[in-house]
Amino acid sequence: MRLAEKIAIVVGAGQGPGEGLGNGRATALLFAREGARVLALDIDLKSAQETAAIVAEDGGTCVAFEADVTREATLEAAVAEAVGRWGRIDILHNNVGLSLAGGDAGPLEITEAAFDRISAINLRGTIMACKHALPVMRAQRAGAVINISSVAAWATNYPTVAYKATKAAMIAYTQQIATQNAAFGIRCNVILPGLIDTPMAVDTRARTWGKTRAEVAAARDARVPLRRKMGTAWDVAHAALFLASEEASFITGVALPVDGGSSLLRE
Ligand SMILES: NC(=O)c1ccc[n+]([C@@H]2O[C@H](COP(=O)([O-])OP(=O)(O)OC[C@H]3O[C@@H](n4cnc5c(N)ncnc54)[C@H](O)[C@@H]3O)[C@@H](O)[C@H]2O)c1
Repeated sequence: MRLAEKIAIVVGAGQGPGEGLGNGRATALLFAREGARVLALDIDLKSAQETAAIVAEDGGTCVAFEADVTREATLEAAVAEAVGRWGRIDILHNNVGLSLAGGDAGPLEITEAAFDRISAINLRGTIMACKHALPVMRAQRAGAVINISSVAAWATNYPTVAYKATKAAMIAYTQQIATQNAAFGIRCNVILPGLIDTPMAVDTRARTWGKTRAEVAAARDARVPLRRKMGTAWDVAHAALFLASEEASFITGVALPVDGGSSLLRE
């Protein structure tokens, strides 16, 4: 029970269509299993409710809440819901992010609409969620923010523009809020997942590229130094659990790759 008595908001706690487990759902499940009460935010309320139902089966506490990270008012309402229900916010986990599903494209093909859409979802959404949760944490003089970037931020040959730019910006933004909130006892860290076997990452590519799921998965597996296999959503969730817990009480401003060594290849 590493998060006993803690209140957590997980933004993007449902998951997209496809096989297996997504990062946001796994994180919500693990936080709840470790004792946190979790507000599970998602634009897809039904999917967030599925997450909450799994937690309830496990004996934990998780409440689904509909919010769209591109609409600040819904994030403000989510923060108010958590505070109204449980009185505080100890952990804010910003998981929402997408690439191909938002119309991302290469430097010569990217459109204004796709770039704006992906920026609003990947970057502005996190910034707005923090804008409303940080004052609560400042008043408590304690809190942990965990943002989800990607090793795409560091990769030298990542093909599409908006995902790379927004995920790189997530690192700079996290360092900024870590500095500005350290005096309040708030820790802000960012996780860089590598190739993870989630429905959004694998099934979306299979659909977009007209390949089978197994073909996409095999190509991704081959690019991972450790185990020659993609990571799972649990790998990301366990990193988030560590950063959220007291065990990380002297850690802030860190960009932590969870990638089986793939970022070492810088490709
Ligand atoms: N899967 C990977 O290989 C991989 C690699 C690097 C980084 N990541 C990052 O991990 C995060 C999660 O990825 P995942 O593939 O596990 O997805 P996921 O399964 O966690 O699904 C993301 C959730 O976000 C929700 N969402 C989408 N738009 C939203 C909006 N506007 N408002 C609120 N909720 C919204 C979706 O409904 C979905 O439930 C993303 O930030 C992604 O960029 C994933």
